[in-house]
Amino acid sequence: MGIDPLRSVAKEMKFMTGNIRQLLGSGHPMLDTVSKYYTQSEGKYIRPMLVLLMSQATATLPKQGRLWSRGMEDVDHPITSSTVLADTNPSSPLTAQNLDNGDAADPSVLPSQRRLAEITELIHTASLLHDDVIDTSISRRGNTSANIEFGNKMAVLAGDFLLGRASVALARLRDPEVTELLATVIANLVEGEFMQLKNTVLDEKDPVWSEDTITYYLQKTYLKSASLISKSCRAAALLGDHTTETVEAAYQYGKNLGLAFQLVDDMLDYTVSGVELGKPAGADLELGLATAPLLFAWKNNSELGTLVGRKFASPGDVQMAREMVVRSDGIEQTRALAQDYVDRAARAISGFPECEAKHGLIDMCSKVMSRRK
Ligand code: FPP
Ligand code: MG
Ligand code: MG
Repeated sequence: MGIDPLRSVAKEMKFMTGNIRQLLGSGHPMLDTVSKYYTQSEGKYIRPMLVLLMSQATATLPKQGRLWSRGMEDVDHPITSSTVLADTNPSSPLTAQNLDNGDAADPSVLPSQRRLAEITELIHTASLLHDDVIDTSISRRGNTSANIEFGNKMAVLAGDFLLGRASVALARLRDPEVTELLATVIANLVEGEFMQLKNTVLDEKDPVWSEDTITYYLQKTYLKSASLISKSCRAAALLGDHTTETVEAAYQYGKNLGLAFQLVDDMLDYTVSGVELGKPAGADLELGLATAPLLFAWKNNSELGTLVGRKFASPGDVQMAREMVVRSDGIEQTRALAQDYVDRAARAISGFPECEAKHGLIDMCSKVMSRRK
């Protein structure tokens, strides 16, 4: 029986939504509403949960002594504005509330690590706001998506606002390496999305399958999904002042788990209904996207190349491609590759001391494989 990964971070998670909503306060009522929209529905909070688990799992490991000059006093200052114009001085606490979760705070999680967890969710939610505009999606987290509810303009601007608030919170950690890591994540998200939008390996009339097809897909997957998970796990270990070995182990865990996470996501697009997913199923083919299940199916079904070349845009293409994928071993191969990555993730942290949080991290590996939304 696995340990519920939530158990060791349950107390911390209870405060997560409230803290995130505080970070998103705006004096403009409409901006306030749109920015907080995705925080109202049931998110999975996977990224903050991983940061908290990683912080706990590494807490007793050796320190490096690199934190001598960090101004930690700013970390807990609320970053909210009561009016639109008030928030011009980033060092002044604009509301009286403290964000350290008071007595409920887990002493093995530093305030900076807790704030990092919140930052990862802000960046992730910003990417979803933008993604739903790009994908013309109609639902997210079981609700109408923000682009439909408020329109594209407000959804994009709200995403930008989230990134702005994430950047202020990041700057207040006063850690240049962590700032650089998370700023790189934001650039990586855009790079990954661009690689998907303009696939330089597949964008020709009659593309032919090659190993490059998979390599390109995996690089895009790293940038689009695994970069945030891996670099935030790395940042958690850096904020804990840990050795290079621990920092690298945290990164390898996040990278491999993140790759597996997106592979499973791409698989669920073929195997699970939209009702269960809380967002449209089968969306990738409709968007002209060839993800892992199709790429593996294509290797032994060269006729899929013609459909890939025209981005499944002719009548009947989507249905035909879906049937060919389902009949092939593409879904099974995707699952096997994801399993390989979660195994690598678990191996990366095998040297961590035995504790509930380590088992939570290992259990996240099986959760990623068994999830249905
Ligand atoms: C969901 O993928 C989207 C992402 C993982 C990242 C999207 C990134 C951008 C839109 C780049 C710009 C973002 C920022 C923050 C600068 P999906 O569409 O495959 O999954 P879905 O089914 O959940 O929509
Ligand atoms: Mg999408
Ligand atoms: Mg997308």
